Amino acid sequence: MFDRQKKGDRAVLVLPHSRGEGDTARRAEEFVELVKSAGAEVLGVITARVEDPNPRYYIGTGKANEVAEAARALEADLVLVDHLLTPVQERNLEKHLGVRVVDRAGLILDIFAQRARSHEGKLEVELAQLKHLATRLVRGWTHLDAQRGGAIGNRGPGETQLETDRRLLGERVKQLTKRLEKVQVQRGQQRRARLRNTVPRVALVGYTNAGKSTLFNALTTGDVYAADQLFATLDPTVRKLEDLGCGPAVIADTVGFIRELPHDLVAAFRATLAEARDADLLLHVSDAADEERDRLHRVVDKVLEEIDAGDVPQLHVMNKIDLAGAEPRIERDGSGKPVRVWLSAATGVGLDLLRQALGELLGGERVQSPLHLPLSAGRLHARLKAAGAISGETIDEHGWQLRIDAPRSVIAPLSGGDAAEAQLLRGLLSEAG
Ligand code: GTP
Repeated sequence: MFDRQKKGDRAVLVLPHSRGEGDTARRAEEFVELVKSAGAEVLGVITARVEDPNPRYYIGTGKANEVAEAARALEADLVLVDHLLTPVQERNLEKHLGVRVVDRAGLILDIFAQRARSHEGKLEVELAQLKHLATRLVRGWTHLDAQRGGAIGNRGPGETQLETDRRLLGERVKQLTKRLEKVQVQRGQQRRARLRNTVPRVALVGYTNAGKSTLFNALTTGDVYAADQLFATLDPTVRKLEDLGCGPAVIADTVGFIRELPHDLVAAFRATLAEARDADLLLHVSDAADEERDRLHRVVDKVLEEIDAGDVPQLHVMNKIDLAGAEPRIERDGSGKPVRVWLSAATGVGLDLLRQALGELLGGERVQSPLHLPLSAGRLHARLKAAGAISGETIDEHGWQLRIDAPRSVIAPLSGGDAAEAQLLRGLLSEAG
């Protein structure tokens, strides 16, 4: 009994669905995962057919009775509804059920509050929570005082905020907005500094649980938190990406995309989404073993469009081939450009192919070719050397005999405006190309 009280959040889940709505089993599974992500124990799942939402409870009265009975029998202290509820519906349901009720937006906000790591992420989440709570301030909070406890829905701004009046809440929102604007300006400056460095930027995007964090870690040998939990990554984490054969790039991990993201929360996504919008290339990760991968791919593409990242070039990664039973490979379009790489981030099979594809897309293809430079081309020799483009050389009275090995994009701008040098480089590039 004590244990149970300490843990709190023993939840009964309610899954409303209507006729002709997609795969309910899949939705149920995803909601259960979300709830576990928030740290609650799932005691039972009740599906509720809702064709014509009941303004009082959203679900029908008979269903509400069934949920009340289950909550009592299972000693639940929380009922989570996989839908957005109006503040009035939430309050009516709480009164009827005698336990806390949290809807989909409240649940996701709670997860955001637990996961936000950067300063900016935390501010964004708190702001979204306060705005969400502001719509619920009208409700009578006293009816549940005795049962309150547990964490979900009570984290973040919490009860003390709820008890303050609207004026205080309004001030807090203003203060947070101001702070957030400041952080965002700083962030924008950092981003511009990076742009000036002209290091290519890659951002990982994909439906939640596709394996982005695992891939991020495999590519960068870091240890960003990867777990079988939705939203393991809320804030973008940016690291250097090396060994691509095209010079370094930076890569950012982003939050997993999910269907029906409550509208309030798109704001809380902004920090991570800006990375996607500003990227030179998106690595769109899919779970190759997921039967619904094509549909989820479209969901992600739609969100990308909504945040104006629809026209950022993509390289598609089919992850988890160890589960899907597929072979590692690069798929190319008609012009030979890599469009899809099949790999397993967890076992590491195919990661070399991804590096190769990234190198090709970010740096153009490699020039690997011998080059004779007359002694008069000493300055070009120095520039090639400084750029790290020379993999071997000998010198005699006629000049240098070089072995060039570098991305085309590194070599092309090296001529320094000299006609003879430009001609030498053109010869090199056309021979290699
Ligand atoms: P969110 O942060 O929720 O968006 O998830 P994510 O896309 O970052 O996924 P994450 O890297 O956390 O991986 C989700 C789960 O899939 C974890 O349990 C991983 O261990 C597992 N996983 C990732 N890649 C592979 C893979 O190649 N093979 C297998 N078998 N499992 C994998």
